Amino acid sequence: MKTPKGMRDILPPDGELWRRTENILALIARLYGYKEIRTPILEYSFLFRKGLGDSSDVVEKEMYEFEDKDGSYLTLRPEGTAPVVRSYIEHGMKSLPWVRVFYIGPMFRREKPQKGRYRQFHQFGIELFGVSGPHGDAEAMVMLYRVMRIFGVNGYMSYNNIGCPVCRPKYIKALRSEIEKYWDDIPKEYHEKINRNPMRFFDIKDEKVVSLFDKMPTIEDFLCEECQAHKEGLETLLAKLGMPYEKNIRLVRGFDYYTRTVFEYIGEGLGAKSAVAGGGRYDYLMESYGGPSVPGVGFGLGIERLLMVAQVPEKVVYEPYAEVMVVYTKKDFMDDAFVLAETLRDRFIAAEVDLRGTSLKSQMKAAAKRNYKYVLILGDDEIEKGMVTLRDMETGKQEMFKQEDIADIILERGSS
Ligand code: HAM
Repeated sequence: MKTPKGMRDILPPDGELWRRTENILALIARLYGYKEIRTPILEYSFLFRKGLGDSSDVVEKEMYEFEDKDGSYLTLRPEGTAPVVRSYIEHGMKSLPWVRVFYIGPMFRREKPQKGRYRQFHQFGIELFGVSGPHGDAEAMVMLYRVMRIFGVNGYMSYNNIGCPVCRPKYIKALRSEIEKYWDDIPKEYHEKINRNPMRFFDIKDEKVVSLFDKMPTIEDFLCEECQAHKEGLETLLAKLGMPYEKNIRLVRGFDYYTRTVFEYIGEGLGAKSAVAGGGRYDYLMESYGGPSVPGVGFGLGIERLLMVAQVPEKVVYEPYAEVMVVYTKKDFMDDAFVLAETLRDRFIAAEVDLRGTSLKSQMKAAAKRNYKYVLILGDDEIEKGMVTLRDMETGKQEMFKQEDIADIILERGSS
């Protein structure tokens, strides 16, 4: 008797290690204001075919798909983003100013099993909807970086901007015509893959192909104004946050839904090309399903791969000590709110920020709707003096404190 190929039992005491790992991952997501979502393991096949793209390896050859008794086609989910987007549309979540969700669960891809690659594996993922600016991307990246720090994983964040439907077609055209010059040097087995999507050229690991990489045009030179501004905005913010990353102008990801920012965390010890986690922005996925035009960004992390390189902390906190929202009186202070929130998370205080850059009034409305007991306010006065105002949402009482003391004060008072 055997498990199916590429699938594994998790036996005791590993089961305990898994539970602890999942609890820590959930805690980290909560520190950023993300709430858990659970979607079915089966979805209509259309969801993945349409969303991930026909040229992706997953859709082309790795889906566990079957015809149900009523003639409909169902697929064991190979990833978590498309199902969450489906759920967002189905439940009309557009009525909310933004949505932050996380998920943990099994995914299925009929891949060739090898070290760190299974047919049933588990992902922890987060998705943020409703934030179009680079602050959304930065949040996903710093959260992922925090996961790696907490789990003691050595490695680096690889990042790229792959353009949008405005600029990418021009790049693809240029890339295609350059690739054609070397067509006969490229092994035949890759021809179809490249024909379907020339950007997948950079996914090929065959040395003959890799040696051609330097001869190819790079997306950087083709980005439109908006993508360029997005990229610069994100890089400035990451610098402010002291977030290390490596720009990889050839990083492409396996699904068609990505626009602009893509990133991967490469773990030391997993082999050259093995990512512990990967993600990016997908601003047109929702519309492509006929849903509202809502931008999204997120990442997925492979728990098996994480456990191959992690030192899972023994003593852990499973619930944030307190939950607050950090608001800003003008858009210019959104970065300061972001930075302050990060320092609170270091102390296991959950801190949510409205990253849309909207008015104070609409942020306060959202804070009230989300039942925050305390809101931290950053305005001209506060910024100038290195202070922050703590507002008790029940009594309306406001007091100003030094920013460096605010975590202690929140911890003393508690918020729930
Ligand atoms: P992905 O890069 O396909 O992205 O998968 C994310 C992570 O899942 C990978 O970095 C890897 O750790 C793990 N993984 C993938 N396939 C396997 C496998 N066969 N065996 C073991 N681990 C595996 C996504 O799935 C996107 N949905 C991520 C995302 C979320 N993008 C935006 N939001």
